[in-house]
Amino acid sequence: MSNIESVLNETRVFEPSAEFVKQANVSGMAGYQALCKAAEQDYAGFWAKLARETLQWKKPFTKSLNESNAPFFKWFEDGELNVSYNCLDKHLAGQPEKTAIIFEADDGKVTKINYRDLHARACQFANGLKSRGIRKGDRVIIYMPMSIEAVVAMQACARIGAIHSVVFGGFSARSLHERITDAQACAVITADAQMRGGKVMPLKPAVDEALAMGGCEMVHSVIVYQRAKPDTVRPDTAWNAQHDIWWHDLVLGQSTACEPEWVGAEHPLFILYTSGSTGRPKGVQHSSGGYLLGAMLSMQWVFDYKAGDIFWCTADVGWVTGHTYVAYGPLAMGATQVVFEGIPTYPDAGRFWKMIQNHKVTTFYTAPTAIRSLIKLGGELPRQYDLSSLRLLGTVGEPINPEAWMWYYNTVGQARCPIVDTWWQTETGCHMIAPLPGAMPIKPGSCTLPLPGIIATIVNEAGDEVHDQHGGFLVIKRPFPSQIRTIWGDPERYKNGYFPEEMRGYYLAGDSAHRDEDGYFWIMGRIDDVLKVSGHRLGTMEIESALVANPLVAEAAVVGKPHDIKGEAIVAFVVLKGARPADPATSAQLAETLRTWVAKTIGPIAKPDEIRFGDNLPKTRSGKIMRRLLRAIANGEEISQDVSTLENPAILEQLKNPVR
Ligand code: PRX
Repeated sequence: MSNIESVLNETRVFEPSAEFVKQANVSGMAGYQALCKAAEQDYAGFWAKLARETLQWKKPFTKSLNESNAPFFKWFEDGELNVSYNCLDKHLAGQPEKTAIIFEADDGKVTKINYRDLHARACQFANGLKSRGIRKGDRVIIYMPMSIEAVVAMQACARIGAIHSVVFGGFSARSLHERITDAQACAVITADAQMRGGKVMPLKPAVDEALAMGGCEMVHSVIVYQRAKPDTVRPDTAWNAQHDIWWHDLVLGQSTACEPEWVGAEHPLFILYTSGSTGRPKGVQHSSGGYLLGAMLSMQWVFDYKAGDIFWCTADVGWVTGHTYVAYGPLAMGATQVVFEGIPTYPDAGRFWKMIQNHKVTTFYTAPTAIRSLIKLGGELPRQYDLSSLRLLGTVGEPINPEAWMWYYNTVGQARCPIVDTWWQTETGCHMIAPLPGAMPIKPGSCTLPLPGIIATIVNEAGDEVHDQHGGFLVIKRPFPSQIRTIWGDPERYKNGYFPEEMRGYYLAGDSAHRDEDGYFWIMGRIDDVLKVSGHRLGTMEIESALVANPLVAEAAVVGKPHDIKGEAIVAFVVLKGARPADPATSAQLAETLRTWVAKTIGPIAKPDEIRFGDNLPKTRSGKIMRRLLRAIANGEEISQDVSTLENPAILEQLKNPVR
């Protein structure tokens, strides 16, 4: 602890306080090791025991893991349950009055809802969905702002066995269209608008636009939650009486009781689209039983959940973090959680700290990018608020740099709260490598050790385990309950992408990592063409496809470059169909046109930070774009690499000039 100020020293270790250890759900390294040992001794039995103790089953399962059709694993397959029952009904007898959600709107208005009322609203909305003919197995797109209604919509789908696919409200009509058609959804749940940073941003028009793009004939219902005042947004809200219906009209007169649809443990709970290394996002399909088990165990193990906690995960429900640690995990635990509509910088950069103070948040979980931007905008601001309610902090989504970690630890956590740096993915459903905060010491920048029952290791290209510090590919050796089941409609892509032959049946996460002498994992970054921009996952190919779809563009290559706040910035190298613009003003104008085009095609999060024009792209003689060269150029590095295989070396000079 003595060298706490030296932010470049990677050897710092922070032990949990004796007080924290004493109250922890898993106490001390011995507690952690005992769980790991139990998993080692009887892997399937370990998970079966936890699944019996943690979940409520309508029909108990008799089988734990079924590996007969690897890598299409099944868990608890002959058991039946309902996820919404496990999140809501379960609490009705014991704690119906307990606040489930403290919702804070963008403008600061607070609405609280208890478990009884949340259950009633989920049932009522579920009955509304049924009245539109929506049934078990149907796909429903949810394109909504952060709200109690978004959680109700997800829970209602789970209740009737419909498979939801939440699309982040910041995605464009085209991205929405891609997801509606890939999932073959029959309904879209949306809102007239969303409120962010004091602005009213219409949402429904993007749905109208998506449906007009064609191939959406199967969509028979568009359910619209009225978020904005009618006079602020209604003129934007075109109405198609054939399929549009207001949320409040749909639930009118519906019963507040709805018998859950009991489904098999393997029934898909949701599909969530995420970027991969091709141009097309992949629909990650999750199960019901295994997924919920992972969500609940990680709430207990990693978030050390206690009944008195006020839990706050700042992620949007459009991302997996908002699924597992907003819509499902906290509710299944019977927690009180904060749901926030707005943004961390409105009305000022003290918003998060003020909310922690006002709602007496005990457990706060956010992304490194938010932490970095709040340091920049007001590193001293947390000190103006009473943050004494906090007992645990968490981060997710990208590696956290030690400086940001130390600030989070000292300024927000007041050197009192352990930080859980949680490594996981859309595909893993819940935390995989993360501290159990009352068990293991933490190190700034390391996600520490795998959760009990998660057999993670690092291998080389041949699939052999590596134990030195050079690192390699992060893999998970054994199937685990919360993992991806397949890619919706594309089992081959699932198999080839995550279980390539040379990996010997291990799950290939797509990250590189190394381990230190204590066995702690340090994530180094992606091994594929996936960028992490403000913690959001974007495929370079996806952005390239968007650029090439512009009539002006002949060819494009996209790479990432380190960015202080966003983690990575997007740099696009573009070859135009016509001549390269001769003067800087035309270049700048064109670059702006293309940046806006990408924002419109995919969503504002994918907008390139920089565009550079060239007559060509650096290619090998066989025609392959040399991305490592482009990365070096984007980073302003001297090119030290071998360029002898480069077809057109002169082009490098042109590409060195950024146009912002
Ligand atoms: O590269 C890793 C990074 O985020 C990727 C998964 O992204 P996504 O599916 O969008 O899920 C993000 C939220 C779970 C991983 O392959 N990543 C996630 N958490 C961490 C991380 N990198 C370093 N440290 C983390 N804690």
